[in-house]
Amino acid sequence: MSEIAKLELNGEIFEFPVIEGTENEKAIDISSLRTKTGYITMDPGFKNTGSCESSITYLDGEVGILRYRGYSIEQLAEKASFLEVAYLLIYGSLPTQIELTSFTNSITKHTLVAEDMKQFFEAYPAKAHPMGVLASMVCSLSTFYPESLDPNRSKEAKDLTILRLLGKLPTLAAWSHKNALRHPFMYPKNSLDYCSNFMHMMFAMPTEEYTVDPVISAALNKLLILHADHEQNCSTATVRVVGSSQSNLYSTISAGISALWGPLHGGANQEVIEMLEQIQNDGGDVDKWVLKAKDKNDTFRLMGFGHRVYKNFDPRANIIKKACDDILEKLNVNDPLLAIAKKLEKVALEDEYFKTRNLYPNVDFYSGIIYRALNIPTEMFTVMFAIGRLPGWISQWKEMTEGGEPIGRPRQIYTGATERDYVEISKR
Ligand code: CMC
Repeated sequence: MSEIAKLELNGEIFEFPVIEGTENEKAIDISSLRTKTGYITMDPGFKNTGSCESSITYLDGEVGILRYRGYSIEQLAEKASFLEVAYLLIYGSLPTQIELTSFTNSITKHTLVAEDMKQFFEAYPAKAHPMGVLASMVCSLSTFYPESLDPNRSKEAKDLTILRLLGKLPTLAAWSHKNALRHPFMYPKNSLDYCSNFMHMMFAMPTEEYTVDPVISAALNKLLILHADHEQNCSTATVRVVGSSQSNLYSTISAGISALWGPLHGGANQEVIEMLEQIQNDGGDVDKWVLKAKDKNDTFRLMGFGHRVYKNFDPRANIIKKACDDILEKLNVNDPLLAIAKKLEKVALEDEYFKTRNLYPNVDFYSGIIYRALNIPTEMFTVMFAIGRLPGWISQWKEMTEGGEPIGRPRQIYTGATERDYVEISKR
């Protein structure tokens, strides 16, 4: 028998059905609450609010489980390719070899961006943050493909937009970096795999040969998989809400990129490295910085620590920490920031403040150290996160539109002035 939740309000009892997920997660369905009672619920930051049912990603923050479509993040990061995971997220099952080849070839056909877009890049100042450039460029794609403005036109049109986004995002990302250097843009090389092609566009120069180290492509592949989806986080919730107004997919993904940029979300990976550099330049006294993070009169927070849903450990952080040692060794890189990061983690994990608040390193704590080893500049770290998160955003948007979800439109409790008469300016 299905569970029922009872709410007693002013002496009257109201009943609400309980929804149960495949992993026994439970929710009280309050969609009829306002009609039945006249009340709404209040939950700033949506800490206890489910906005949808989803079959894409399962996450148990208490025990540190993360699975895409049922497959553990550990197995996928170890064995799969990023495009295999993208297919899994977007279409629901692991691709056969034929499906993967066809998906990969189709994406490869869309890696070029319109030549006119080069002028947009050139108009940005060299100092432009690449996340600002990326969000604008992705939104600009909608102007080149007006047929995409109706996101529900046909399955074929939807798939074409998805392929274009997956193909073009690395090109736009790499070109935002080249533009910052005022170096010539490198065109995509379609004989390369997804990650190697990105590195080629980032680092090759027309004047010399450039070969991508397979250790680097493998490291990037792993990082992108670990970032590919994370259920209803800030940017994904943004994508679902923006997409719910039936805005086109380019503008919807652009909104997701903007949400990701913030330092409390994807922007934390840049902040972590800047924080570690600051600690290093300050003499490397991690205790001092842990004290600062605990001081409520100090706005400083340990970036890369804490998570809204992980209250034991972030499984992505565990994988990245292990990979970090391995990759640095293989690339023969000795980064003093890694030693500071490890010391900081140790001190924080033994500290009562962090223990009682369940604050652990998150995905962003060690990822920046790997990006540094791959020569990715700090300002590009959040862009890397966006490339990884793209399949997740697309799959969540697809699920939302195909499930016919209503437009996202929360309510509020008004606390402003009650009705008053307009006062002529001369009398104010
Ligand atoms: N350093 C010091 N104190 C912290 C930190 C931190 N990094 N994170 C949380 N706290 C404290 C916070 O001050 C609060 O203390 P109190 O109960 O005394 O008021 C308590 O822990 C709970 O924090 P909260 O801000 O209410 O928790 P939240 O769930 O709203 O925020 C968070 C989660 C990730 C925004 C937050 O932990 C944070 O700001 N972390 C640093 C930024 C960061 O690394 N973000 C990346 C998240 S992972 C990548 C992604 O998927 O976005």
